[in-house]
Amino acid sequence: MEVANGIFYVGVNDKKIDLFEGQFKVEKGMAYNSYVIIDDKIAVMDSVDKNFGDEWLNNVKQVLGNRLPDYLIVQHMEPDHSANIDKFLNIYKNAKVVASSKAFMMMKYFFGTDFEDRKIEVKEGDKINLGHHELMFISAPMVHWPEVILTYELSTNTLFSADAFGKFGALDADEDWACEARRYYFGIVGKYGVQVQALLKKASNLKIMQICPLHGPILNENLEYYFNLYNIWSSYGVESEGVVINYTSCYGHTQEAVNLLANELKENGFKKVVLNDLARCDEFEAIEDTFRYGKVVFATTTYNGDIFPFMKTFIDALVERNFANRQVAFIENGAWAPVAAKIMQTKLEKCRNLSFCNTIIHIKGTVDENSKLEIKKLAEELKA
Ligand code: FEO
Repeated sequence: MEVANGIFYVGVNDKKIDLFEGQFKVEKGMAYNSYVIIDDKIAVMDSVDKNFGDEWLNNVKQVLGNRLPDYLIVQHMEPDHSANIDKFLNIYKNAKVVASSKAFMMMKYFFGTDFEDRKIEVKEGDKINLGHHELMFISAPMVHWPEVILTYELSTNTLFSADAFGKFGALDADEDWACEARRYYFGIVGKYGVQVQALLKKASNLKIMQICPLHGPILNENLEYYFNLYNIWSSYGVESEGVVINYTSCYGHTQEAVNLLANELKENGFKKVVLNDLARCDEFEAIEDTFRYGKVVFATTTYNGDIFPFMKTFIDALVERNFANRQVAFIENGAWAPVAAKIMQTKLEKCRNLSFCNTIIHIKGTVDENSKLEIKKLAEELKA
């Protein structure tokens, strides 16, 4: 498939994988994208996951025909993209490998060599001329590892964006881009908003007609939509109006309070109220919801003098990803020595710019009249 003048897609779809990076559920598979640029000189952009080396090399060969590649550009060393570097270089003995200095350091660890006699080390602004096509490298540390470079092709205005603008799902997955791109973003890159903002700033100085990421579809229409979402996500802004209630419930009583609050919120005019049972839902769906909406309620029990384990893990995952800029409220359940609300707040106080609601809903084993009054009061406070 030619994705732009002289640029061909040679990636693969992984339909066997269940957990990407060993933790993200990918029921619709995963795409490991790779591209070949055919010109006077030929460049191959990244390899693919180790299980697809032969399929990828075959795809590359089909595009190359009798020609030989001059460069393998390595934008990112995570094994889903780097696993076949040595295999490629063993087949194409005259090809040079192009990467950042940190990537070459990682190659030493991963392959026992940094391909010293074949390496071309590049940094921000360096260029490689292929003939009509010209590649310019853009440093993008921590999007998503420290060695990452992006590549801008000047003649077609193509941005090879590494992990940025990627999503879960094989290329034939029929699904909304934003939903799985958001889960991917907050699951994988969410902590690095500052670095993504720096990258967006650099990208804003370039004329970009299409984005070729390492996962997910090539983006070549309405690019403003994708840049705008990335700007909201990386600045920890509110993408959609609504309330998310993340909860755990041992015997259904916390859940009862959550349902009552959800109904009260709807009666108070909230159109979107999202409930996540943290013991049962996909944790990363809950994480993306929590970064998406502006108001977040956490509901859990006091447990072993702490909070319920699923909630503990969940809040840690938010804090680790630099959760910020939200209105937050708590529901706590505990018949003796309740500390859940206090512990949740203490954990979240590490985050930037959270405003905590004054009303806390207390449940002492079961939802009583006092809890119901607090539910009404909290709904009012969230509405204000
Ligand atoms: Fe797709 Fe960070 O690797």
